[in-house]
Amino acid sequence: MSNRLENKVAIVTGGGAGIGEAISKLFAREGARVIVAGLPEDPVDDVAADIRATGGAALPFKGDLSTLQAAKDCVKTATNEYGRLDILINNAGTFVETNMLEDFTEEGFDYMVKNNIRTSFAMSKAALPELQKAKGNIVFAGSEAGVLGVPQNAPYGGTKGFVIAFAKGLAGEQAAHGVRVNIVGPGPIDTAWTHKETGPMDKQMEKMNNQANLMGRRGSVEEIANVYLFLASEEASYVTGALYMVDGGITIGKGPIGDQAAKSFKQEPQPSLDLDHSMDGHTTIRE
Ligand SMILES: NC(=O)c1ccc[n+]([C@@H]2O[C@H](COP(=O)([O-])OP(=O)(O)OC[C@H]3O[C@@H](n4cnc5c(N)ncnc54)[C@H](O)[C@@H]3O)[C@@H](O)[C@H]2O)c1
Repeated sequence: MSNRLENKVAIVTGGGAGIGEAISKLFAREGARVIVAGLPEDPVDDVAADIRATGGAALPFKGDLSTLQAAKDCVKTATNEYGRLDILINNAGTFVETNMLEDFTEEGFDYMVKNNIRTSFAMSKAALPELQKAKGNIVFAGSEAGVLGVPQNAPYGGTKGFVIAFAKGLAGEQAAHGVRVNIVGPGPIDTAWTHKETGPMDKQMEKMNNQANLMGRRGSVEEIANVYLFLASEEASYVTGALYMVDGGITIGKGPIGDQAAKSFKQEPQPSLDLDHSMDGHTTIRE
C-alpha cells in the first residue's frame, strides 16, 4: 500500500465493474477508504470484499444514483461509516445501444440521460456540502465522444458533452468553496462496452475503435484509473476545470473513417470559379 490518498474518503460510482472497479481498487491501495457504489445488481459487494481482503477499507452501496434520494443515502453511508467525504468519482454510466439516429430508440436515449447525466447531477448535488467541508474534489467520467461526437451513438456523445460542460461550470462555482472539479476523457477502454461479445458493437465498430487512435489498441482500465488518481490527489492541487484526455491520441488521430463515406461525398467537387493559381501556393523556402 502506498499513501497518495491517505486519510481520504472516496465514493466511486459505477465502482462494481469496468473502469470503476480499477479506480476503487487503486484508490484503496493508495490509502483511501472507498464507498464502492452501483446499481443493486452490480457486483459492488465483491469489489468491496476484495479490497478488504487485501488490507484496504471499502464498503458497498447499492442504489440507483440517478435519484437524489439514493445519492444522498450514498453520501450518508460515507459520512456515517468513515466520518467524512473528500473525493467523489462520478464514473457511473451506460452505453446500451449503437444505432443511427433514425433507428435509435427513445428508451435507449432516456436510459443514457438517466445514467450518464442524472447520476452526475444527483451525486454532485448530494456530495457538495461534505466536499466543501473537506475542501475535496470531484472527477467526472467524460469521453472523447463528448468532444468529438460518436457516429452510431450520437446521443451517448451528447450525454458526455453535457458532463464536460456541467463539470466545468461546477468548477467555476466551487472554486469559492475550495473544491476542485475535473474530468477524465477516456478513449476506447478495455471493458465490456468495447468488445463485440459483451457490448453493443459489431466487428467493424470494434476494429474502427482500435484503429482510430494513435496507439492502435484499447486503453486498459488501470491506464484510466491512474489519471483519476492523479486528479483526485493533492498532486493535482493546481488543476481544476480541466479535461484530461486519456484516449491513446484519438483526438488528434485521423483514422480511416473516410472509408465509410457515401460515394456522393467522395466525388471531387466540380470547380465553378475560373481558378488559375489554386496550386501556386507558397510551399518552399524562398531566397
Ligand atoms: N469503456 C470505455 O471505452 C469508455 C470510454 C469513454 C468513457 N467511458 C466512461 O467511463 C465510465 C465507466 O465505463 P465502463 O466501461 O467502466 O462501464 P461499465 O458498464 O463497465 O461500468 C459502469 C457501471 O456504472 C453503473 N451504473 C450505471 N448507471 C448507474 C446508476 N444509475 N446508479 C448506479 N450505478 C450505475 C453500471 O451498472 C456499471 O456497473 C462511464 O461513465 C463511461 O461513459 C468509458
